[in-house]
Amino acid sequence: MRRILPLLILIAHCTLLTAQRQLTLEVGKRLGTPIAPTMYGVFFEDINYAADGGLYAEMVENRSFEFPQAFQGWDVMGRVELHTERPAFDRNPHYASLLFSGHHCAHTGMQNRGFFGFGLREGMTYDFSVYARTHEAGKEAQLLIELTDRYQNVLASTTLHVKTGEWTRYTATFSCPITEAQGRLRMRLLSEAGIDIDHVSLFPTDNWQGLRADLVQALADLHPGIFRFPGGCIIEGTTLETRYQWKNTVGPAENRPLNLNRWNNTFEGRYAPNYYQSYGLGFYEYFLLCEKIGASPIPVVSVGLPCQFHNHDEADYVPVDQLQPYIQDALDLIEFANGDASTPWGSVRAQMGHPAPFGMRILGIGNEQWGPAYTDRLEPFLKVLRAAHPEIEIVGSSGPFPEGEDFDYGWNHMRRLKTEYVDEHYYQSPEWFLTHATRYDSYDRKGPRVFAGEYAAHVEREGHQPMVKNCFEAALAEAAFMTGLERNADLVRMTAYAPLFCNANAWQWDPDLIWFDNMHVVRTPNYYVQQLFAAHPGTHMLRITENKQPLTGQDGLYASAAYDANDKTYIVRLVNTAEQPQTIMLTGKGLTLSTAHTYALHAEPHDYNSLAQPLRVVPKESDQPVSNGLTVPGQTVMVCIIK
Ligand code: AHR
Repeated sequence: MRRILPLLILIAHCTLLTAQRQLTLEVGKRLGTPIAPTMYGVFFEDINYAADGGLYAEMVENRSFEFPQAFQGWDVMGRVELHTERPAFDRNPHYASLLFSGHHCAHTGMQNRGFFGFGLREGMTYDFSVYARTHEAGKEAQLLIELTDRYQNVLASTTLHVKTGEWTRYTATFSCPITEAQGRLRMRLLSEAGIDIDHVSLFPTDNWQGLRADLVQALADLHPGIFRFPGGCIIEGTTLETRYQWKNTVGPAENRPLNLNRWNNTFEGRYAPNYYQSYGLGFYEYFLLCEKIGASPIPVVSVGLPCQFHNHDEADYVPVDQLQPYIQDALDLIEFANGDASTPWGSVRAQMGHPAPFGMRILGIGNEQWGPAYTDRLEPFLKVLRAAHPEIEIVGSSGPFPEGEDFDYGWNHMRRLKTEYVDEHYYQSPEWFLTHATRYDSYDRKGPRVFAGEYAAHVEREGHQPMVKNCFEAALAEAAFMTGLERNADLVRMTAYAPLFCNANAWQWDPDLIWFDNMHVVRTPNYYVQQLFAAHPGTHMLRITENKQPLTGQDGLYASAAYDANDKTYIVRLVNTAEQPQTIMLTGKGLTLSTAHTYALHAEPHDYNSLAQPLRVVPKESDQPVSNGLTVPGQTVMVCIIK
């Protein structure tokens, strides 16, 4: 009895603390407008080493010797020189020349450190390639290629025999006998004949179209409806010279000219000196990826403005009457994506291996721009694009903040210019997200539709470690807010968390949706929230109410619902931000609700997933009876699928 008493008290206590809620699923009232298949998506930007050193599976850093510090990423020994005469690739003209040191006991060679090391796995194979030529035609140059562990023990090797003085591509495949996160690739000249080398490359054989298979899988598992690319501020560049120019990112990868990454030297105290854009992951690969993961592509082009945050010098802005090349870039992009293979840019796509059009329907003009500097430039774009491509929907910007003068200015002008979508960005506190779940309830329905294109809840953490800002507290607040997105799915047609990827070895911006290093992928609690919405998006909006009112945080409870006409299921999302559990009695006219298949995400506010504990916060799946009420534990995101 002494043992039972505390238990009884505990049960009584829990019962008292469990709030009972009576929610109505207004099943008869489908809200007309279907939910857009584009509703939940992803936003890709090459920030935090998301492309080179991330999704792009190339393991060799500075493979073409085009970094301004020509041998950055390489350790060189002996006689290694940099040259540009008779280059292999005219837009990446630098190459390394390895020369006999003059003595057989003194070696010439170079070793690549990779992006924070080479992540090698036991039993995996790696595809090596290099362009090379001997210095004296007919005199064979020999190059030893070795894959090593961090202590320089050789894991695999091969010798190249180069007899021709013309640039030729040589390949080899290495099989790795051990797992090593800090591998190296090294090359040593074995002959007296010297050798020129360029575009030194190593890919894991299990890559998908040159992309890391594990990261592609993480994207596919999100079920994204859209994929916005390539940024972000990198579209703009700090100056226009370094803006993203999509035409430089297509055609043979070897000849895509290197560009500075705009996040290389942006943040004081967050150095990323080896951060460049090789464009191995370029627009063709982005479109392919969209096809692979079933997402609508939303490319964004420069509007002739550098990053307005960092560059206030209007002399750096393209004058409005000189925008023609920028507008042409947009026109050519549409042709590249959708044009017949007989058109100039359609044929580039076809030659790259995709004769069929990519079916791009939406285009962003300018990233996060604002003020008259933006709208004055957007207008001429629209004039041309509307006439030439009325089928393409345009995304305009409302600037970097979710409210205020620039935001209102942006929206007013997007209404005037009749862009189909307005891109809104909000990086705000969890409290902001909790109190803004009603944000779109009273938006004007007559103007453009909303693209919540970049958002994330930012918790305060001083001196933070990787991933701590991706804690459950932030994810819970985002989920609560997302019920407001779903309730307004007639207006909000596209959404995306931002940023998407982050290399745990070096980041410029956190929180981020997916973290990784060379060996691991960490899906954050925020990832699972996105997935819980996107994997079950529904096809039609449904009202879910309590006392005829939507659930927008009353006693900590948020709710939204949808109907899926394909599966004939109801999808109910319940986000309980209160500490105590809440028991939900769900009713609906003519409905017999017996069981629900549920996914529940629950954790302590500061819990997060990490390299050491990637599965600390993950959704749990179960079947639950609902006829007598469904209990949603405190601080839980729950998605219920009801047949
Ligand atoms: O997502 C990170 C940055 O936030 C984007 O590059 C920019 O659009 C916004 O300011």
